Amino acid sequence: MTHSSTPTQPERRTFFHWLTYAFGAAATAILGVPFVGFLVGSLRKKKAKAVNLGSIRAFPEGQTRLVTFTNPLGQPWDGMTAHAGVYVCYLGKDKAESHQFRVLAVNCAHLGCPVSWFPQSGLFMCPCHGGVYYETGERASGPPPRGLFPCVWEVKKDGNLWIEAPHYPSLQDTLRNPADV
Ligand code: FES
Repeated sequence: MTHSSTPTQPERRTFFHWLTYAFGAAATAILGVPFVGFLVGSLRKKKAKAVNLGSIRAFPEGQTRLVTFTNPLGQPWDGMTAHAGVYVCYLGKDKAESHQFRVLAVNCAHLGCPVSWFPQSGLFMCPCHGGVYYETGERASGPPPRGLFPCVWEVKKDGNLWIEAPHYPSLQDTLRNPADV
């Protein structure tokens, strides 16, 4: 008398089917998590962080000053690059008696080198490739394709000048909200 193995085959086949499904589900999950993270991350708007630049009385009218600070958007491993700076110029009060400021990122609009302010000539100059900007931040000459990037600022009730912590500006991702420009 011979025993046929036929009755056990469907069970084994079912087992391998489920195993295949399980591997497929695991692979989908492993590959899908980064993709979902990317989608969610791009949709989620990061909360802006504010930086206090100090009392507005520290800024004499018409004088451009470099203010440095530790950027709260930085990471622990950023090192020196976490030390950011902006050029601030107090422009006086407007007709509504509101204080007006010009706040410019130090990063050159060409490749991001920090520009220097020369009050004698009233120009910002970039040491990397010779980009030059007027006091207003407009491009004067050299390779930069545009002027310096203006930062979002606000005078708060505490009498201090605050700015939105600046990320690294680029032509595609300027510091300003595109809707404000
Ligand atoms: S980085 Fe400033 S001119 Fe190139």
